[in-house]
Amino acid sequence: MKQLIVEGQHELTGEIKISGAKNSVVALIPAAILSDEEVTLYNVPNISDTKSLLDIINLLGGQVVYQNEMLKIDTKNIKNKVIPEELSKKLRASYYFMGALLGKFHYAEIYFPGGCNIGSRPIDFHIKGFKKLGAEVIIDKDKYIIKADKLKGAHIFLDFASVGATINIMLAAVKAEGTTYISNAAKEPEIVNVATLLNNMGAKIIGAGTSEIKIEGVSKLGTAVVDVIPDRIEAGTYLIIGALVGKDLKISGIIEEHVDALLSKLKEMGVKMYVDSNSIIISRPTKYKAINVKTLVFPGFVTDLGQPMSVLLTQAEGTSIFEETIYENRMGHVPYLQQMGANIKVNGQTAIITGPTELTAKEVTATDLRAGAAMIIAGLIAKGTTTINEIEHILRGYENIVEKLSAVGAQITINEQ
Ligand code: EPZ
Repeated sequence: MKQLIVEGQHELTGEIKISGAKNSVVALIPAAILSDEEVTLYNVPNISDTKSLLDIINLLGGQVVYQNEMLKIDTKNIKNKVIPEELSKKLRASYYFMGALLGKFHYAEIYFPGGCNIGSRPIDFHIKGFKKLGAEVIIDKDKYIIKADKLKGAHIFLDFASVGATINIMLAAVKAEGTTYISNAAKEPEIVNVATLLNNMGAKIIGAGTSEIKIEGVSKLGTAVVDVIPDRIEAGTYLIIGALVGKDLKISGIIEEHVDALLSKLKEMGVKMYVDSNSIIISRPTKYKAINVKTLVFPGFVTDLGQPMSVLLTQAEGTSIFEETIYENRMGHVPYLQQMGANIKVNGQTAIITGPTELTAKEVTATDLRAGAAMIIAGLIAKGTTTINEIEHILRGYENIVEKLSAVGAQITINEQ
């Protein structure tokens, strides 16, 4: 078991470079198998979710070269195989192999996916989409069997603009006969990144990044190259850290429009930032204004930054309200913040946070990935040394987090027990 040990109240200065996006790369790797040749991804983050997906690529017979953030996947010898539970359970995004295998082989057999425990997380929209394309979906105990004689383009309306369902349906539809329309599609930048890769392979997708996506089926997909977009959640996490303990902390490699909602909330709180092309320089102000934050689909305030943001709200003067609207269980970090001294009242998925409160170091647990990020942030501002348990969650999604924070002056180490 690994722990993180964080000594609080050190000022951070210097530069943190943002890595490739976890939530893009976890879809780009499964998407790669749709190619009959070779796919190259640049800016690939070295996180445990990347490794878990490459284990699945290896199982299917793909040849992988992963060096200096460049990942080449030769898909010529890919064969269809059952994706076993020990691989599918490691992460949520294993479910993208449903769409990718269905699109390529018209057959996918895969055990239920894993991922953070932040709500019930059904995948009914993915399944409905596959069925609309002509597939039969069988649930056999804890495994999905998805098969089709042929896939035919269809008009699919999503009841909710789900990121996963939009991507999975794109993967299944790119080689279907005819044209598929996804209405009320999710608009997150990760969807545009996946569509770009597929189009570079020869797919015909238009409208990715809007709520109406049109996919004209093609018969063959070939060699392609794409850059993984910068991780807007990692960027946002470091911006929040900069707002709390930064002194001219430079966060570089950011696409500003991807973090717009966060920047506007930071400004509302009184945080000063200088935006310089793709970098943001941020410093801790003397005080913060209380604000309200409600998580929404893109371009709204992203759910994955709600937990980190709630730590910043404990330092604002007055009462702030943080409302989570996407998942039913994104308050796992709150009991630990309360133990550290935060004044937070939770009512369902709404937290009423009154500040400012000084936080005191405690032994805490990363109950999920972003709860873990919130615990690191709390540790960085707390008096004393915080110990964070179950940090495997954090390592799934933040590349070299200890190295990046240490390089700008944080006192943070991993303790391997
Ligand atoms: C992706 O999850 C991300 N995960 C999540 O990041 C992120 O929070 C989420 O998008 C929203 O931006 C990956 O990319 C691997 P959704 P996803 O489908 O695709 C409900 C992180 O911390 N829903 O947009 O699973 C669902 O239960 C992770 O990095 C259905 O009801 O999110 C949820 O309430 C956590 N039926 C909402 O929609 C479905 O079939 C949004 O889910 C699909 C979704």
